Amino acid sequence: MVALKLRRSPSRPRLLELPWSQPLEEWPDEDFVRLPSGTHRHVVRFLRHDGEYYALKELPTRLAELEFENLDRLRDEGLPAVTLVGIATDRATPAGEPLESVLITRHLRYSLAYRTVFTDLSNEGQRNQMIDALAVLLVRLHIGGFFWGDCSLNNVLFRRDAGALRAYVVDTETSEFQLKLSDGQRAHDLMIASENLAGGLYDLQAEGRLSAAIEPIEVIDALMHRYEALFNDLTAAEEVPVSDLGRIQARLERLNDLGFDTEEYELREDSGVVRFRPTVVEEGYHKRSLERLTGIVAHENQARRLLNALRSYGAWLAQTEGEALPEAVMGYRWLTERWRPGLEMIPAHLRGRLEDAELYHELLEHNWYLSEERGEEVSLFEAVESYVDTILDRRQSERNILPADP
Ligand SMILES: Nc1ncnc2c1ncn2[C@@H]1O[C@H](COP(=O)(O)OP(=O)(O)O)[C@@H](O)[C@H]1O
Ligand SMILES: [Mg+2]
Repeated sequence: MVALKLRRSPSRPRLLELPWSQPLEEWPDEDFVRLPSGTHRHVVRFLRHDGEYYALKELPTRLAELEFENLDRLRDEGLPAVTLVGIATDRATPAGEPLESVLITRHLRYSLAYRTVFTDLSNEGQRNQMIDALAVLLVRLHIGGFFWGDCSLNNVLFRRDAGALRAYVVDTETSEFQLKLSDGQRAHDLMIASENLAGGLYDLQAEGRLSAAIEPIEVIDALMHRYEALFNDLTAAEEVPVSDLGRIQARLERLNDLGFDTEEYELREDSGVVRFRPTVVEEGYHKRSLERLTGIVAHENQARRLLNALRSYGAWLAQTEGEALPEAVMGYRWLTERWRPGLEMIPAHLRGRLEDAELYHELLEHNWYLSEERGEEVSLFEAVESYVDTILDRRQSERNILPADP
């Protein structure tokens, strides 16, 4: 016996075929794929079924329902989290013995557990990537009114984003949405995060995977600083004289650079002093522009990178063709003359190693690197060939944590 509640996804009635009347641990092994995951309390297994990959977690019904609500809301709010598929409740064995519920999420493609990402935290680049990704995640959640209550290295997944990282929430059984988080609630959530994250880093240290030069507490301090700076930039009120409105403009531009859009803000003038306060901020400034121009869906940093490439191609076209092109035309031409042909040169068996946008970002990097090395402009297509031969072929596939798609 089982009751499935499925969410807004393309209908997946075949999930009913699964052996729900057995404890998850006893499901036949051949149904499952082995994927890396963080350490966890509950039984968590990854399943390939009907062409899709799922993560299944068995837990008490009350918690499963709470997590269902939270993931659903995170998705509605556009916050970065694993995608909810549904829950299975009212389970019982053939003998009538009741079983716990199962939360079903979609396996987050190309996601990396922190153990895969941070092979060397003594590398300042890696450390900053981690700090930035976590700070942005926590700030976004808090601005959205989400009290996480269980931020830890095991409950975050990372994805690559044009040389940076992007963090996603997994595990929300202790979380709660509020209308608005008070400063006290934010501080409480940050305290939980600090303790858990420090714990995770000390564990890595004990395993000899963290250089002795790294003091976990310093990493956490840096994270808290980054969080505060970002949170203030996104929310704090600022007062400037009317004669200095340029400062407000500069702050809006700085937020755009960080990838945030100020959808709504207040301006109030009183006796020559202007008070400015962002009220609704959303991430995805570059992402939305890129999607509008080209239809390509990418992460924020990738989108920023691709837009730059698109605009410099547009500038080059304008120069060679003697007239400036409208942005929409530029977008279309870049898409058909650079993006598609560039990616199509990648042999099919290597194409899936990274997401397309990340792959193209690497092509651009490689192109830049080759041109620097030779001291002359190298064409994109020549760079693609060299990239395939020298880099991609050797790179361990980040997707081969999944068996190949049929
Ligand atoms: N949808 C998913 N995609 C990828 N990995 C996942 C997904 N859901 C869970 N995981 C992995 O499984 C681990 C355990 O899941 P989690 O929800 O944290 O369970 P627990 O409540 O037992 O800690 C996570 O640390 C994560 O690495
Ligand atoms: Mg967990």
